[in-house]
Amino acid sequence: MKLIFLGPPGAGKGTQAEKISEHYGIAHISTGDMLRKEMREGTPLGKAAKGFIDKGELVPDEVIIGMVENRIQAADCQKGYLFDGFPRTIAQADALLSISDIDMVVNIDVPAERLVERIGGRRMCAGCGAGYHVSMYSKDTCEKCGAKLFIRDDDKPETVLNRITVYERQTQPLIDYYKAKGLLRTVDGDRTPETVRTDILALTEKLVSRLRTRLTLKR
Ligand code: AP5
Ligand code: MG
Repeated sequence: MKLIFLGPPGAGKGTQAEKISEHYGIAHISTGDMLRKEMREGTPLGKAAKGFIDKGELVPDEVIIGMVENRIQAADCQKGYLFDGFPRTIAQADALLSISDIDMVVNIDVPAERLVERIGGRRMCAGCGAGYHVSMYSKDTCEKCGAKLFIRDDDKPETVLNRITVYERQTQPLIDYYKAKGLLRTVDGDRTPETVRTDILALTEKLVSRLRTRLTLKR
């Protein structure tokens, strides 16, 4: 199963991707998480990416495409994968066409005014990368691994506003791009995480049946 989760910053892509990838045993590929790991480790890629990320701008397409191309070769991608935050430009989506097929794109729709509030309360785990929101979780350590929670550098209000603008300008056109290919499904992301997950699971379960039928017909 090969999925894309599309949506603005703070839409809940990471929150949903973590659960759905676990449910199906497929790899969760978050280009944002990959870049943050490179930054933590101080690699040349991480140092180059930091300048863009701290301003809320996109990292150049060729860097991202190379990174994803390598990532999908890994053993944990054999059963499938879920892209979270990739592709983010038409150029990335075009490049993806030549390296992988995609079964479904889930667009998580959340109104812009809700995004700032969500990102403002986000806390991330320094150990396992799990995400939390202060309104739903008040401890300062992770419930899964016990590591300390932190606020992402690019979650400052002025950076967030630019990330939303960049999304509208560069990523939103992908909605029509994938609609035209018949791959797009939209869920209302402005409800509890559990309700959103139920909706996504209904879509992915339909997809699983379709993929099974296709496999049976091939045999
Ligand atoms: P990335 O890490 O991908 O950030 P993003 O797309 O801006 O999205 P976020 O991670 O902020 O939000 P999310 O949708 O995952 O929401 P979450 O589940 O955390 O990218 C960061 C940067 O890296 C980019 O700006 C760019 O510079 C670079 N980059 C990454 N990929 C790139 C690419 N492909 N090309 C070029 N550059 C790239 O939820 C947010 C908060 O809301 C959390 O606190 C959560 O607990 C809460 N929440 C979630 N769901 C709900 C709900 N239903 N109700 C209430 N609260 C909720
Ligand atoms: Mg995320």
